[in-house]
Amino acid sequence: MKSFFISFEGPDGAGKSTVVAQVVRELAPRLKTQYLVTREPGGSEIAEKIRQMILDPANSKMAAKTEALLYAASRSQHMAEVILPALAAGKMVFSDRFVDSSLAYQGVGRDLGIAQVKQINDFATSGVEPDLTLFLDVKPEVGLARINRLRPHAEDRLEQEKLTFHKKVYQGYQEICQANPQRIKIVDASRNFTQVVADCIKIIENSLPIDFIKD
Ligand code: TYD
Repeated sequence: MKSFFISFEGPDGAGKSTVVAQVVRELAPRLKTQYLVTREPGGSEIAEKIRQMILDPANSKMAAKTEALLYAASRSQHMAEVILPALAAGKMVFSDRFVDSSLAYQGVGRDLGIAQVKQINDFATSGVEPDLTLFLDVKPEVGLARINRLRPHAEDRLEQEKLTFHKKVYQGYQEICQANPQRIKIVDASRNFTQVVADCIKIIENSLPIDFIKD
């Protein structure tokens, strides 16, 4: 069965989760197929438990490799329980983050190397990739400033990292975007919310096979 898998990526503070929700709200009435909205890390009961462990600020001693493996473990469970069954049923899947987050945050941010992190993720996903990825592009300084403004006391362990870490993550995303120009489309997320959502919808409409969307 034909399916279509879209992931949304971006640095912390890109406004991803709000954008995903609005894009789906606006697109939903025009879709011909069923769809599913999910997120990582998490997306299923077991995967959400792993998410809590990863993001808990109390786990400050977590080794970089442990972190990468836990993200991959959470993803493997999310694939098995949620994404693969949905794709097998011919649904559209919208995921807030996927493997590219691990390549950027753990591969580059934590210096584990993109190739190594890709390897463990290929194992976790059996090599399944999104058909389309939207990269919400916002400079790390701007993203972190947004987070500090919106929720100054609600930081998770990754958000607590210093600007130098987030700059490396951003650099990682640049590399990943350059290496996958067919799959990853860049959206300038420094603009206002309505423009960002409109851009995402336009890109999705242009990429979706005709049997997924009404005229
Ligand atoms: P998320 O809840 O998506 O945060 P946000 O709403 O800010 O996007 O993700 C939590 C954190 O986990 C975020 O800082 C990015 C990080 N992350 C990784 O480091 N590797 C991964 O594979 C994933 C999926 C997320």
